[in-house]
Amino acid sequence: SFLDVVVNNDLSLEGYGACEGTLTCSTCHLVFKKEDFEQLPDRPEGEESDMLELARGVTDTSRLGCQVF
Ligand code: FES
Repeated sequence: SFLDVVVNNDLSLEGYGACEGTLTCSTCHLVFKKEDFEQLPDRPEGEESDMLELARGVTDTSRLGCQVF
């Protein structure tokens, strides 16, 4: 997932992925460019969709990084 990329590369994004991918935080919120969003294999649904509603600045092309593989 995008969260794994951040963790595995020791990227310094303070607070990103606070719940370690357990879908309880929304700190891994990403906003994709429309053309990139359309290339993703799936759309947010279920728990991801619910948690996205709590993210700040959510857009039509938002995803949670821990759910994008
Ligand atoms: Fe918490 Fe993605 S890391 S919801």
